[in-house]
Amino acid sequence: MTKTTTAALYPTAKVAAEVGTYSERNSTALPKHLVDYHDWIVESHPDSDYMVSNLQAQSLVFFARAFGAKRILEIGSYVGYSALVWAHAVGQDGKVTGLEFSAEYAKIANDAFEKNSVKNVEIIVGDALQTLSTLKPEEPYDLIFIDAQKSGYPSYLRDILAGSQPGSTTRLLRPGGIIIADNVLRRALVADGSEDNPNWQLQRHVKHAEDDLTALRKFNSALANDERLEAFLMPVFDGVGFARLLN
Ligand SMILES: C[S@@+](CC[C@H](N)C(=O)[O-])C[C@H]1O[C@@H](n2cnc3c(N)ncnc32)[C@H](O)[C@@H]1O
Repeated sequence: MTKTTTAALYPTAKVAAEVGTYSERNSTALPKHLVDYHDWIVESHPDSDYMVSNLQAQSLVFFARAFGAKRILEIGSYVGYSALVWAHAVGQDGKVTGLEFSAEYAKIANDAFEKNSVKNVEIIVGDALQTLSTLKPEEPYDLIFIDAQKSGYPSYLRDILAGSQPGSTTRLLRPGGIIIADNVLRRALVADGSEDNPNWQLQRHVKHAEDDLTALRKFNSALANDERLEAFLMPVFDGVGFARLLN
C-alpha cells in the first residue's frame, strides 16, 4: 500500500488523547517545577489554553537541546510557562528573552521565575511588532520561538530576516539558527478552510479568524519559499513550523 502524507493517525479523539498521554509518559520527563506551574496556570487562569501543553514542552526541550540552543528568543510569553521550559532547556549558562504585550502577564511570569530561582530569563514588555526590530542582542539567538498573535507572524518573520543579515555584526538569529512557530495550522483551518472542516464552526465567530488564517498561510509559504530558509511544517499539536536560517 502506498504511504499517504495524512496526519490523521488516530480514529477518534479518545484514541488521540490516549496516544498523547502515552507519549508524555514515554518522553523524558519535565522537572516537577514545570509540571506544577502548568497545573497552577490551568487551575487559576481561564485563558490557560494559550500555553503549550506539557507534551509539547517536552518536544521543545528535546529540540532546543538537539539544536544546541543556548540563547533563545520567544515572541509571546503569556505567563511564562514556555519561557520557564526554555530556561530549563538552555541551563543556567544559557539565556532566554521573552517579548510580551501584557504587563500583567509579564508580572506573573517574573514572579514564577523568582519563585523558582530562575535568573536567566528576561521579559521585555511591549508590542513585539515594534520591540522585535529594536533588539540588539550582544550575541545572536540560536533559536526564535514565535507564539504571539497569528496576524503578526509574517511581520515577525520579516523582522527576523531583516535583523539577521549575512556579515552583520549585530544579528538577531545566527547563521544556522532555528525558527519554531506554533499554531501554524490553526485547527487545520489553514490547510482546509472550507465549511466541510468541522473546526470551521468553532472558528466562525472568532474575531479576526479569517485574517489570522490569511496571515498564517502567508507565513507558512514564506517559510517554505524564502531562499535563506530550509523549512519543515510538522503536522502535530496545532501545527509547528520549523525553519533553519542558512546564512
Ligand atoms: C499563545 S500565548 C503565548 C503562550 C506561551 N508561549 C506559552 O506557551 O506559555 C500568546 C501571547 O502573546 C502575547 N501577544 C499577542 N500579541 C502580541 C504582540 N504584538 N506583542 C507581544 N506579545 C503579544 C499575548 O499577550 C499572549 O500572552
